[in-house]
Amino acid sequence: MRVDKVKLINFLSHDETTVTFKGDINVIIGHNGAGKSSIIDAINFALFKATRGKIDDMVKRGKASALVELELKMGNSLVKIQRSIPSRKELLFINDKLIARSAKEVNKKVEELGLDSRVVLTTMIVRQGEIENIFENLSDILKKVMMIDNLEKLTESNGRIRSIIMEYDAKIKASQDSEKRLKELREERDSKDKEILNLEQLIRKLDDELSALKQEESRLATEVNQLQEKAKIFHGLKTGLDRVERELSKLDQERKDLANIPQEIERLEKRQRKLKEIVEKKPDIIDLENAEKSLKDLNNRLKKLVQERDKIHADLKKKKELERFHIEYEKYKKNYDELKHIHEDFISTSRSLSDKRKSLNEIETKLRALPVTRKIDEIQKEIEEISQKINDLNTNMGAINSELDQIGKSMNALISAKEDKCPVCGGPLDELHKKQLLEQYNSREKELKERLKGLKEIQDSLQERMRRLNLELKNAQNNQSKAENYKEQISNLSREISELQEKVNRLQSLEEKYREASDKLKELDSSEREYLSLLGVNEEELDRREEEIATINHEIEEVSAKIQQLSSRLGGLTREDIGKAEKELRDLEWALSELIRKKGRVEQISERIESLLKQRDELRKEIEDLSFDQLELDRKRKDRDALRVQIETLQRDIGEKRGKLHEIIERRKQLESEITELTEKVKQVQDLSRAKERLEKLRRILSEGGLQSYLISTLKGRIENNLNDIMSMFNMSFARVILTFQESRSLSGKIDIQALDQNGQSLPIGMLSGGEKIAIALGLRLAIARSLMGSLGFMILDEPTIHLDSQRRAELLSVIQESMRVVPQIIVVTHDEEVLRIAEYVIRVEKVGGKSEVIEGVNQ
Ligand SMILES: Nc1ncnc2c1ncn2[C@@H]1O[C@H](COP(=O)(O)OP(=O)(O)OP(=O)(O)O)[C@@H](O)[C@H]1O
Ligand SMILES: [Mg+2]
Repeated sequence: MRVDKVKLINFLSHDETTVTFKGDINVIIGHNGAGKSSIIDAINFALFKATRGKIDDMVKRGKASALVELELKMGNSLVKIQRSIPSRKELLFINDKLIARSAKEVNKKVEELGLDSRVVLTTMIVRQGEIENIFENLSDILKKVMMIDNLEKLTESNGRIRSIIMEYDAKIKASQDSEKRLKELREERDSKDKEILNLEQLIRKLDDELSALKQEESRLATEVNQLQEKAKIFHGLKTGLDRVERELSKLDQERKDLANIPQEIERLEKRQRKLKEIVEKKPDIIDLENAEKSLKDLNNRLKKLVQERDKIHADLKKKKELERFHIEYEKYKKNYDELKHIHEDFISTSRSLSDKRKSLNEIETKLRALPVTRKIDEIQKEIEEISQKINDLNTNMGAINSELDQIGKSMNALISAKEDKCPVCGGPLDELHKKQLLEQYNSREKELKERLKGLKEIQDSLQERMRRLNLELKNAQNNQSKAENYKEQISNLSREISELQEKVNRLQSLEEKYREASDKLKELDSSEREYLSLLGVNEEELDRREEEIATINHEIEEVSAKIQQLSSRLGGLTREDIGKAEKELRDLEWALSELIRKKGRVEQISERIESLLKQRDELRKEIEDLSFDQLELDRKRKDRDALRVQIETLQRDIGEKRGKLHEIIERRKQLESEITELTEKVKQVQDLSRAKERLEKLRRILSEGGLQSYLISTLKGRIENNLNDIMSMFNMSFARVILTFQESRSLSGKIDIQALDQNGQSLPIGMLSGGEKIAIALGLRLAIARSLMGSLGFMILDEPTIHLDSQRRAELLSVIQESMRVVPQIIVVTHDEEVLRIAEYVIRVEKVGGKSEVIEGVNQ
């Protein structure tokens, strides 16, 4: 058998990895934590559902489920196992044919294929760093693989066999009680049978009694029913009679109450006549009231007319008094109207006169305000004088200037004279003469210039004076023209004023007349108004009023006469009296109609009484004919009820008895089944006792260690043989390996391992080399496996070289190579590159980004 392929999905550090195993020695290599052991874990899981931790921890972190698929080659068959976490899928195929489809079925099938989990997991699959553990744990491993520990547990004082024996004991003891109980139950059953017989007899007797009573009761019940029918009729008649008698007495009373109705009607009719007489006088009252009202109206009108007449009288008198003022008013009014335009003229003339005066005043003020200046001709004269002076001065200065020119020319001539002749005097010209002449000229020139300067100053002052005078003249001329203008205005205004004044004087007397008229009109205004208001009042108005007054007085007389007449007719009757009478009459008529209605009722009552009396007699006769006896009915009823009570009691008694009978029958049934059961139990006791005896024997054998010692000795031989077979293939220096069991019956002691050399000399295992020890360890594992399972298929070693020095590592590798002779397929897991030396096929595992990845290839 070989492991062909394993596929991991979301299993430990793998997302999705498929590993195929090729060749004899497969090496899975990679760094720590790369995901190598995870592959072995997947194989273990697929084969046996075995895991290193909790099953759920095998699912890759962050994933919901995991799946492992393992392919094994067995001869020509291909076995495929699928298992998932959570366990939804547990399948086993052989050559693609589905053989097992549940965890239980798959486990069973794996075992049938020769793979016992206990054996494989302790021998063929060697976990990281555990190769040599086999020496320490050999007895435990053997116990485990042979399940001897289970055998031991069976024989322990609280072991399984003992507990079964005790169970049997208890059952046997309980069954012994059953026999006694069975006897009791049988006795009880017999007594119940007797009870049932008695009860059945009694019930039959009671049933007979009951039917006799029921017959009697039904006879009585019929009689009572007949009497009750009669009673019903009797009561019907009786109620009818009562009703008739009640109505009769009621009607009788009513008839008595209505006896004095006719007298009452007569009395009311009399009163009615009297009231009608009063009510008939109602129109007179209305006439009287109307007459009184019109009298009142007439008096009011008369009063008003008298007032009006008196007023007209007074007004006429006043009008006459005012006539005089009115005439006067008319006169002044005429004057006033005529003078009105003159007054207006006067007013406007006076106003313009005062305006003119005001203007005159203003101009005169202005004239007076003009500045005072010299007279124009006076100024002009001075100007002429000054200008004469300036002229004289200019002449003077002209003479001087021409003399200066002359001097200048003479001097020039003198200076430039070349001849010896004096240009001035015509005499001889010597230097002295020249000099004298020049001096004369110079002093004259100087003198002349001095004079010229003095004259110039005078000229300036004169010119200044001249300028001022011109200015003065201009002002004077200006003033003069203004003054002339003002004066002209003044004269004009004065003329106008005098004209206006003259006109005012002329109008003055008329104006006064106007004023007088105006004042008079004001004075007369109120009397005039009054007069005008009375203008419409006249004598005819007065006459008309007097006439009306006479007419009304006449009417008043007539109405008064009528009132007197009506009053005497009514004789002191008031409207209130009539109202009262009317109301009383209405009430009375109503009462009267009520009484008349009642009178009719009396007749009805008499008729009804007669018919009721007849009914009463008939009913009395019917009751007599019925001859119903209430006492008889009561008596019979009592008898019947007593009978019913008797029947009920009897029925209850029978019911109780029947219930009891039922209970006893039930109990009897129960007893019967208990008896059958117990009979069966008692029979089992014999079987149990036999079984117990056999078990005790087995326990004895097991605890004496017979079976174990047999198994152990057989196994020891097989393992030893197999081991030496294997060791012979390992090419070692020693000839044989011997296992010595210190406690050969129970495997509880140590197992000694000795190697024998060619000369038969023995060496304890501790004295052997590392490689030799590993070889024996591996050999032992393989030997045990083979002893229990026959041929071997594969061996898996996880990190076998860990903690080994290079010497031992080399030895181990050669042992592994040699093991190929025993197991056809070896899978080594390692991070040690040196191991590659023995590999045929290399499976490289790396962790990339939290996920394990695999690269496979044949070793180069
Ligand atoms: N459920 C899980 N999901 C994801 N990763 C896990 C899970 N359980 C364990 N691991 C990680 O998977 C990685 C691989 O573990 P594995 O035992 O296969 O390593 P290895 O290659 O055998 O390393 P070593 O050489 O140290 O034995 C480790 O880093 C471990 O922490
Ligand atoms: Mg590992």
